[in-house]
Amino acid sequence: MPHPIRIDFAATDLDALVTCSGRIAVLADPGQALSPGARRLDRLTKGAVARAVGSDAFGRLKPGEGMDLAYPTGLSAEALHLIRLAKKTDIATARKAGATAARALSPQGLTLLAEGHGLAAEMAFGLALRAYDFTPHKTGEKKPAGSVTLMVSTPEAVAAAAAQGAAVAEGVVFARDLVNEPANILTTHDFAARLAAMQELGLEVEILEEEDLFRLGMGALLGVGQGSESPSKVVVMQWRGGAADQAPLVLVGKGVVFDTGGISIKPAGGMEEMTMDMGGAATVAGVMRTLALRQAKANVVGLVGLVENMPDGRAQRPGDVVRTMKGDTVEVINTDAEGRLVLADVLWYAQDRFKPSGVINLATLTGAIIVALGHDFAGTFSNDDSFCDAFLAAAKAEGEGAWRMPIGEGFDQRLKSRIADMTNVGGRDGGASVAAAFLQRFIRPGMPWIHLDIAGTALSKKDQTLSPKGATGWGVMALNRLIRDGYEA
Ligand code: BES
Ligand code: MN
Ligand code: ZN
Repeated sequence: MPHPIRIDFAATDLDALVTCSGRIAVLADPGQALSPGARRLDRLTKGAVARAVGSDAFGRLKPGEGMDLAYPTGLSAEALHLIRLAKKTDIATARKAGATAARALSPQGLTLLAEGHGLAAEMAFGLALRAYDFTPHKTGEKKPAGSVTLMVSTPEAVAAAAAQGAAVAEGVVFARDLVNEPANILTTHDFAARLAAMQELGLEVEILEEEDLFRLGMGALLGVGQGSESPSKVVVMQWRGGAADQAPLVLVGKGVVFDTGGISIKPAGGMEEMTMDMGGAATVAGVMRTLALRQAKANVVGLVGLVENMPDGRAQRPGDVVRTMKGDTVEVINTDAEGRLVLADVLWYAQDRFKPSGVINLATLTGAIIVALGHDFAGTFSNDDSFCDAFLAAAKAEGEGAWRMPIGEGFDQRLKSRIADMTNVGGRDGGASVAAAFLQRFIRPGMPWIHLDIAGTALSKKDQTLSPKGATGWGVMALNRLIRDGYEA
């Protein structure tokens, strides 16, 4: 499993710059005096730095963006990268500057001169996230990443602050790897094994097998997986870093390792994307990994329902009626609305067993949320305003888009079935809210709950500030912050 890139922190050594091989990145802002490092580089390059920073082109850069000077005279470095960043800036811009530096990575190494900048640790975080690359299935020579050194005035203090960020980056990267992995490799078995391996970090991990799920009465979840060669599983990950009597926060993730639609099969075009239909489970796993790595002082339980939705002689049919663990029956009108069936049983089990203080579920649940919100915001549904506001604030602070969507009786009405307690679909209009209404039937009265529909945000077709195209790991940062700010005394 690839880890985030390693970053070393060293005391600023201006005399080392002249012989520095690889690349050098330095921060500057047109409105401010050059830093000592930039001044030294300017002297060595006979004024090239000051001229570039004073240029119109540099002035047009947005904060956090950069400009290259290739093969600069007077330096051994192969390139000098000037990154626009003022001394006073915000976290998002500092992360962006780090991400810009990540694009200057070279096999010969990169030295980022952050000097006395107060947000150097955030730069390291942005650099680590943007340097991510998913390469396990690329054959041929792999270019070594090259070492990355951040030169700062207080290396111990910055390294300590950056260690917190490194725990988050590792959770994000873990989630991305799971989402990027194709379904012939990331089977339910392989997924569960990767989660079980997190026991090394101090998480308690249990794997519930099909016979356990059958005994628990999880007929809705089992129905989804019954057409697959890969057995359905529920994995329970517990992190107990808080007081023994503190009720846990529960995170539940949809882990459909591949969604063909089942007998209600999807069209061929774009179906390969459904390898990301375990994005909710990946984010839950990423958060749990981060909590363990940073020894969070909170009690959190992560549960994921791992299934594969396949058409087969034994697959569930449209019209089948299944019985949930709660006891309610569901008429499966469309086998492609499978995520809610999986979540219904895991949500019920989680509340039944752990008596949590709140429940957050994440799922690549509906195409309708993409129609409504596009790819920059996850649909956020909740029955509890203050819980929801706390999450939205955490997401905003981390730069992860989240937008509240409506729930309510009207959507729930759409789930009437002639022969069972409910159907699993209720027409196209407001489809994301109808799906939320279905889930809410499996939330106990009074239980604070947030449902995050991440169908649009889990995977990106284009490069983003902090991630290359592909899996984003959306939600790991926001949930980690929510827990840090709201659950750790
Ligand atoms: N996994 C899909 C939702 C999805 C769509 C995720 C696009 C990511 C990108 C989900 O299981 C699904 O198929 N939903 C159906 C529900 C419908 C049958 C009510 C949908 O959105 O079309
Ligand atoms: Mn589906
Ligand atoms: Zn699905």
